[in-house]
Amino acid sequence: MDAGPGARRGGLVKANIVVLPGDGVGPEVVNAALSVLATVCDADDAQVSIDVRCIGGRAIDEFGMPLPDETLDACKAADAVLLGAVGGPAWDHLRGEHRCEAGLLRLRRELDVFANVRPVKVHPHLTDRTSLRPEVTRGTDLVIVRELTGGAYFGQPRGRTGTGPDEIARDSIVYSAGEIDRVARVAFELAQSRRGQLISIDKANVLITSQLWREVVTALAPEYPDVSLTHELVDSFAMRLVREPATIDVVVAENLFGDILSDEAAVLVGSLGLLPSASLGASDQGLYEPIHGSAPSLAGRGVVNPYGAILSVAMLLRHSLHRDDLAVAIESAVDVCITEDVLTADLGGAASTDAVADAVAREALRHLGARSGAAS
Ligand code: IPM
Ligand code: MG
Repeated sequence: MDAGPGARRGGLVKANIVVLPGDGVGPEVVNAALSVLATVCDADDAQVSIDVRCIGGRAIDEFGMPLPDETLDACKAADAVLLGAVGGPAWDHLRGEHRCEAGLLRLRRELDVFANVRPVKVHPHLTDRTSLRPEVTRGTDLVIVRELTGGAYFGQPRGRTGTGPDEIARDSIVYSAGEIDRVARVAFELAQSRRGQLISIDKANVLITSQLWREVVTALAPEYPDVSLTHELVDSFAMRLVREPATIDVVVAENLFGDILSDEAAVLVGSLGLLPSASLGASDQGLYEPIHGSAPSLAGRGVVNPYGAILSVAMLLRHSLHRDDLAVAIESAVDVCITEDVLTADLGGAASTDAVADAVAREALRHLGARSGAAS
């Protein structure tokens, strides 16, 4: 029987990962994350092949489009995709499907990774690095499940018509009941594996799509009797997120609300650079990316925070390769390194990107060594 991609065979894992470094700081954080991945895989005899491809501005320069066919084909055939970031000032004048971001959106859609999972966990050592009071953020451990392939990002009709004062620009928020159902199930299941609380976000007092969203999510609740479901309007929830974040467990939201709320949630942890994400669909395949952007002003200086990308690799190991053990080794290593003040400038530290990666790799090895020591 085929054990499937990434399955463990006698202590081995074989997987094919497509890596899309992208633009700005993307290549630097991806390199850092890959060096951690290589270290844990070497230590475990795991065989992971890395196939580097172009996306975003680099792809526009080389292929004339942000998502070349050869990149898309490679991603479709991969067990998992690791992405850095796309975009930058050199390509900001481009419009519509020629934009860097359009390449990323098309990739998400083509891979059908409809559930974007964004964990937000406040590290006790960093509660004084945010603009919020430590007693507010302390203990925060929440996950945002953002719908990723529908809503205003993709809805038709969209576009511009007319000229002058009569010019009209139009985006459409469109959701089918099926699209809502499948992402809500991911969120319910996640809540089941955590503290059993799910908050569904909408703007049902105004938007028709939100009314359908609320109906579909409510109808699912009886299937998950161990989850307590509440509904909150996005505007008041935006306040609650910074007022009492430690009371929040799992949040599910449509694409645009989830995009905005997850950047807001980044304030809780101290830096956007810390947060990873996993975009998942119906299969084990996933697209993994830090939630930060290409940060052009930081690019090429070796100072960008790689923790978000490193933690994205941990999510990749857990979800697509079923190697929870290796994911835990990396996550524990990140915890230790942060406690030991291995921090980049965004968190008030002086460590370089590579120094963070080296420290995490060393600590992850120690963790794996301790594990095999305990097992023998
Ligand atoms: C994100 C980003 C993207 C989005 C951009 C780069 C298109 O902000 O992943 O949150 O809006 O989804
Ligand atoms: Mg965003």
